[in-house]
Amino acid sequence: MQKQISDLLSTKGIWKIPTIEHHHVLSSTSDRVRKILETAISVDLPCLVVADEQTAGRGRAGKVWWSSKEALLFSLGLELSNFLLTRKDLPLLSLATGLSVLQAIQKYLPTKNQVALHWPNDVYVDSKKICGILIESPKPNLAVLGIGINVNNHLADIPNEFYPEFERRPIISMIEILDKKTDILLLLVDFLQKFQYNVEKGLSSDKLIREAEAYCIQVGRNVSISQNGREIQGLCIGIAPDASLLIQTESGIETVHSGIVQ
Ligand code: BTN
Repeated sequence: MQKQISDLLSTKGIWKIPTIEHHHVLSSTSDRVRKILETAISVDLPCLVVADEQTAGRGRAGKVWWSSKEALLFSLGLELSNFLLTRKDLPLLSLATGLSVLQAIQKYLPTKNQVALHWPNDVYVDSKKICGILIESPKPNLAVLGIGINVNNHLADIPNEFYPEFERRPIISMIEILDKKTDILLLLVDFLQKFQYNVEKGLSSDKLIREAEAYCIQVGRNVSISQNGREIQGLCIGIAPDASLLIQTESGIETVHSGIVQ
């Protein structure tokens, strides 16, 4: 698979990814990338780790990520300075990653299926979550982007322990929409192509923010956000140039950098 990925990248004129690993089973692709970054004396970055299955997939807020076979599960290790970024740009990188997944998935879906961004970076189709993204920065100049997309995994196979979570926040898989398998490798390469385009265009470019805003579910809606134990309520009026969410509250415009948006 490593060779297939690098061949596809060079055919499509995408960045060379010098370190690519494919595993049948891993605890977590993000843990593997972190290990590579920690232990190697010099690693050629970016590095990409793909797994067919994870036994301890990690989600945001300490949640477990359902990581069955036939999903697309991968992590990308990046040196921020190679992209002229610093740690303060992580929210923008996170937004651009979500938008790139959305654009890659959109290519495969009929136009009647509505793709959307759920700030900060979840991707939804028809109001159900199809992709989750975990952004970590183990060292000031490093970022690990962990991405899980429900592609050919059937919802009928969801283990019981995930039922309560998925009842609260329903999920969807591409195969349930398309009724046929999607080529996971091609989807991965499509993501990398969109990601490269978005990053090279400049993460704080007005176009990227406007595009993310146009797809953002929360924009134009009344939202309630818990941020550091404080509840912020108001109308979401857009996304700021630094990727934070802008909320019109009774006492003025609040800028939300992180938090759980209901
Ligand atoms: C979320 O909670 O929405 C983020 C989920 C991120 C899951 C992906 S799957 C590949 C990578 N490896 C992990 O352990 N987590 C991320």
